[in-house]
Amino acid sequence: MKGLRLRSFAKVNLGLEVLGLRDDGYHELRTIFQTIDLHDDVVLRRQPRGVTVRCDHPLVPNDPTNLAVRAAEALRRHARIREGVAIEIVKRIPVAGGLGGGSSNAATVLLGLDRLWRLGLGRDGLHRLARTLGADVPFFLLGGTALGLARGDEVYPLWRQVQGHVVLALPGIPLSTAAVFRRQDAALTPRENSSRIFYFVSRDLEGEGAWRFLANDLEEAALVEAPALARQVQRIRAVLVREGARLAALSGSGSTYFGLFSEAHRARRAQSALAAAGFEVCRARTLSLDRYRRAQS
Ligand code: C5P
Repeated sequence: MKGLRLRSFAKVNLGLEVLGLRDDGYHELRTIFQTIDLHDDVVLRRQPRGVTVRCDHPLVPNDPTNLAVRAAEALRRHARIREGVAIEIVKRIPVAGGLGGGSSNAATVLLGLDRLWRLGLGRDGLHRLARTLGADVPFFLLGGTALGLARGDEVYPLWRQVQGHVVLALPGIPLSTAAVFRRQDAALTPRENSSRIFYFVSRDLEGEGAWRFLANDLEEAALVEAPALARQVQRIRAVLVREGARLAALSGSGSTYFGLFSEAHRARRAQSALAAAGFEVCRARTLSLDRYRRAQS
């Protein structure tokens, strides 16, 4: 095998609770991750020496700071591999949008190189490396609908996978995850043992009542961090709710704001209305655990 071409999918957070600051400087989270079929392409080509990356997006670094390169280097060291790899990334997932693009690329590189180098580590064997790269990376080894605990890096697949149509509005305001978490610290009142996410998990997900338990605790902090975003979010949210979204929320630390719809025609209407209001917008389907696995094999 000379190389591999893989799809690297985006995620949204269907809900996100911040429980408090941990001793390691990260935050204790409870979140529901959901992969969607919006994706980058990642091409891996064997080369005799060194790890290199090329990406067509101006905000993605073509150097060793790229998380995809760090993933390849970490796996190379771990498995004592001498040969190198050339990584090419075709970007479609908005950068710094709360959709996990960089983390997804890193997990895809780990899964791809495990195959290309015939290491046989599998998802379980890659998990420890994945969590050293970033809190969202382990989720992308798994995909589908999953509960994320601890830093978000302890992930459990949910028995019932969410299905729906996702409309993403991209306000074009890149937000730093670290900065949004810092804002959140200023407002954070330590919680005893909040369980909204657990309520959601324990309900039948198809029952409409379950969705009201979900919210993103980072939303307020993101809107304080980027006041221009606050004005846009108000308008985006109003359209999504009017068109019948089951859930309308910020993804991760933003700035992407999305709506989840049961029916395709409602999603299409929301997409058209947002586009007519001048927003950059795209539509995707949720990607279940099974479909995620099949798409990568
Ligand atoms: O792990 P990752 O590099 O993706 O996280 C980016 C930043 O988000 C971290 O440097 C940290 O400031 C913040 N973060 C956090 N708690 C988490 C996840 C991320 O504080 N559970």
